[in-house]
Amino acid sequence: MDKYYVTTAIDYVNALPHIGHAYEKIAADILARYYRLQGRDVFFLTGVDEHGSKVEKAARLAGMQPQQYCDLMSEKFQQAWAKLDLSYNYFIRTTDERHVTVVQKLFRQLKDNGDIYKGSYSGIYCEGCEDYLRERDLDADGNCPSHKQKPRQFTEENYFFCLSKYKDKLRQWLSSGDCVVQPESRRREVLKQLDDAELSDFSVSRSRSSLTWGIPVPDEPEQIIYVWIDALANYLTGVGYLTDPDCLSRYWPADLHLIGKDITKFHAIYWPAILMSAGLPLPKRIFGHGFITVEGQKISKTIGNVVDPICLVETYGADAVRFFLFSATPFDQDGDFSKQDFINKVNAELANNLGNLLNRTLTLVERYCGGKVPARAPENNLREASNEVSVVVDKHIESLEFAKAIEAIFALVDETNKYLNDEKPWALFKDNKTVEGETVLLTALEILRRVSLCLYPFTPQLASEIWYQLGYHTKIETLAHGDDFMWELIPAGQLIRNKGPIFKRIDSSCVD
Ligand code: ME8
Ligand code: MG
Repeated sequence: MDKYYVTTAIDYVNALPHIGHAYEKIAADILARYYRLQGRDVFFLTGVDEHGSKVEKAARLAGMQPQQYCDLMSEKFQQAWAKLDLSYNYFIRTTDERHVTVVQKLFRQLKDNGDIYKGSYSGIYCEGCEDYLRERDLDADGNCPSHKQKPRQFTEENYFFCLSKYKDKLRQWLSSGDCVVQPESRRREVLKQLDDAELSDFSVSRSRSSLTWGIPVPDEPEQIIYVWIDALANYLTGVGYLTDPDCLSRYWPADLHLIGKDITKFHAIYWPAILMSAGLPLPKRIFGHGFITVEGQKISKTIGNVVDPICLVETYGADAVRFFLFSATPFDQDGDFSKQDFINKVNAELANNLGNLLNRTLTLVERYCGGKVPARAPENNLREASNEVSVVVDKHIESLEFAKAIEAIFALVDETNKYLNDEKPWALFKDNKTVEGETVLLTALEILRRVSLCLYPFTPQLASEIWYQLGYHTKIETLAHGDDFMWELIPAGQLIRNKGPIFKRIDSSCVD
C-alpha cells in the first residue's frame, strides 16, 4: 500500500492556539483524510514545540515551572485539535523522553561527521523568531519586523553547523525536479537566500547562561541545543527514528512538510542540510502556506484579536470553521477571517445550497418513491459533470488548491439544484411520468453520494451525516477503496433516512 506521511509545524506553547495555527493543522487533516479515503497508508504527525527562551519566559510569567507549564499548554492544544476533528496519528511534544534522545543522538552524529564545530558569534537575536537577524532586516525603529520587538545583542561561544559545506548540494536539490518547495515563488526565494554570502554556518547551541530550557548538548551540559534543531528533529522522532526502524522505513521520507511561509528557511535550507549530514533521505515536498489575518489585522495579543478556535467551534461547529477557512482563501496566499464573511459563506453554501439539495431530494424520495433509492440510471449530462468534478477535486487537493476543490464541489451542488428546479420531479410524478421523475431523483441522490465523498476531507461530520441520510450502514471514514467507489452507483432499493436539515443557518445578526 502506498504510504503518505504528512507533518505540520509544531507550535510554540508560549500562548494558546489561535485560528492561524488551526488553519495549518486542518489543512494537514484534509490531506490525511483524503489519502486515507484513497486507500493510502497515512501517517499524520502534529505536536508542540516546548523548548526555548520564549516558552521559558511564558512559564515564568504564569508562575509555573517550565515543564508544568508545557504539560498544561500541550493539553490545551490537544483539546483544541480534538474539537476541530483533527485525525492525527501521533501528537509529539519536544519534551518527550524519546525525542530528547533523538535530538542528542542526531547532534552527536552531525558532530561525529565533522559538520558541527565550536566557534564564537556576535550578533542580534530575535526571541520571537528564535533566530539571528541582520541589522538590515530590522524596521525603522530597530525592531524585528515580524515580532515588533527589539532583538538582543549576543556574543557567545557556541557550536556551529557547517552549512557552507552543503550549499552546492542544496542548490542542486532545490533546482532538481526531486525537490518540491512550494509555492514556486518560495522556492525561488530560497534559492536566492542560498546565494546570499551572509547565509553561512549557523549556531546550533546556546550557552546555558542565556538559555536553560532546552536539551543539553551530549556530554556538555553548559551548552543547550538550538531550539530549531530540536524542533525540526520532531519529524524523525514522530516516525520512530532510532526507536522503531520498521516505522521509520515505512514512512520516512515525509511526503509533505506543511508549514507557514515565515519558517521556509528553516525547512528548505537548514533541515535538508541536516538530513544530508545525517545521511537520511530528504522530504519529498515542503509547502509554505499563507497567513490568516482576523478582520483584516495581523493576529496579535496586543491588538486583542486572537480568535480562539475552541470558542468558534463551540458556537458554530467544526465543519463550518473548516469549510470557511479553506473555501475563502487560496492556500498559498494570505487570507482573512471575518465573522460576517464567515456567516454569509456558510449560510449560503452549507445551509442553503447543500442543505437544501439534500433535504428536498430526500423529501421527494420519501413522498414519491417510498423512501427507497429508485432503480434508474442517472441523467447523462450531470453524471458526466460529476465525473469531471471528481477528477478536478483530486487534482486540486493534490496540488493543495483547496479553495478550487471546494468551488468545484459547490458548483456541482448548484447545478444539481438548478436541475431539480428545471425538471420539477414533483410535477413529473403528478403527470404519472414515473420513469422520468425517478431518473431525476436518482440523479440527485447519486450526485449527493459523490458530493459527500468529495467533501469528507473538508467537512467530515457533514459528509458523514449526508452519507448516513442516504441510507448507508457503513461509515464513510472506514471507506478506503481508492478511486473506484467514485464510479459506483448508490444502490437501488436502499432505504434513505430523512433526518432533516444537516446544517442550521446561523443568525447573521449574531455578529458582535
Ligand atoms: O514557528 N496564519 O511555531 P509558531 C497562518 N515552533 N499560519 C500561522 C499564523 C497565521 N496567522 N501564525 C502562525 C514555530 N502560523 C516553530 C515551528 S516546526 C519544526 C517549528 C503558523 O507557534 C506558522 O507559520 O510560531 C507555523 O507554521 C505554525 O503556525 C507554528 O508557528
Ligand atoms: Mg511564529
